[in-house]
Order: sequence, then structure tokens, then C-alpha cells
Amino acid sequence: MATNRTFTMLKPDAVENGHIGAILEKINASGFRIVALKLTQMTIADAQEFYAIHKERPFFGELVEFMTRGPIVAAILEKENAVEDFRTLIGATNPAEAAEGTIRKLFAKSIGENAVHGSDSDENAAIEGAFHFSGREMF
Ligand code: TYD
Repeated sequence: MATNRTFTMLKPDAVENGHIGAILEKINASGFRIVALKLTQMTIADAQEFYAIHKERPFFGELVEFMTRGPIVAAILEKENAVEDFRTLIGATNPAEAAEGTIRKLFAKSIGENAVHGSDSDENAAIEGAFHFSGREMF
């Protein structure tokens, strides 16, 4: 995957609360092109693998439970400086600390259920994109 791509998930809270359309609209309006997109649900094993870096953290069990409780929207996004610009667009992990106008400020309620994921590096964007999409699902 080229380094002008990032990976995102609209998390179960965002889907449950009917925010798919509004969040995708904001993503598009911010200059990102959607190059892969699907509604899917992670298994417990998927979530444990996806978030393996956090497995020793106290919130790991709740995170896995939350991320598997319903469907998510997985997407790969393309834009110059995609990883950094998307992290700016989503805002701080804790929505209470997220800047005005960011996706987490607008759509998230708590640090545990914070509406959206964004890769934190080009390397992880490639790994996470490949975790969710096959080559022929990426455009
Ligand atoms: P992290 O990778 O630190 O944040 P980000 O999603 O902003 O890259 O954490 C991954 C997810 O773990 C985070 O989106 C929500 C959850 N989490 C908690 O539930 N409690 C916490 O204290 C932290 C740091 C994260």
C-alpha cells in the first residue's frame, strides 16, 4: 500500500447511533478518497489480534468486547499525508479532549467508545488495511 493511505474503522457505537453517513461525508469533505469500504463485524479473535499492542493494558478486555458487539465500517482512505491528516480530523483518543469540529468531538461519548479508529503510522496503515481487505477490494 502506498504511504498516502490510511486505514479507518467507524466503530460499533458510531454504527449503532446512525452516524455512518455523516462521518463518511465529513471524511469526503476533508479531502480523503475512499479506496476500500465495507460493513463487517470483527470476531473476538480478530479484535484481540488487531489490538494486540494493548493486550497488557487494563482496558483491553472492554476494548475487545466493545469492538465486537456489532458491525463496523472498515475503510481505506487516500490523501496526501493521509495518516497524520486523518489523526487530526478524528481528534484526541478521549473525546472530552478532542478539538472542536473533530469526528470524536462531534460523534463520540467516551474514551472507550470513541466512534472512529485511525492508523497511527504508514506501516500500521498498511498492516491494518491488509487485515480487513483483500487486494481486489482495494481500488
Ligand atoms: P490508542 O491506540 O491509545 O488510541 P487511538 O485510537 O487514538 O489511536 O487506543 C486504542 C483504543 O483503545 C482507543 O481508541 C480506545 C481504547 N482505549 C481505552 O478504552 N482506554 C484508554 O485509556 C486508552 C488509552 C484507549
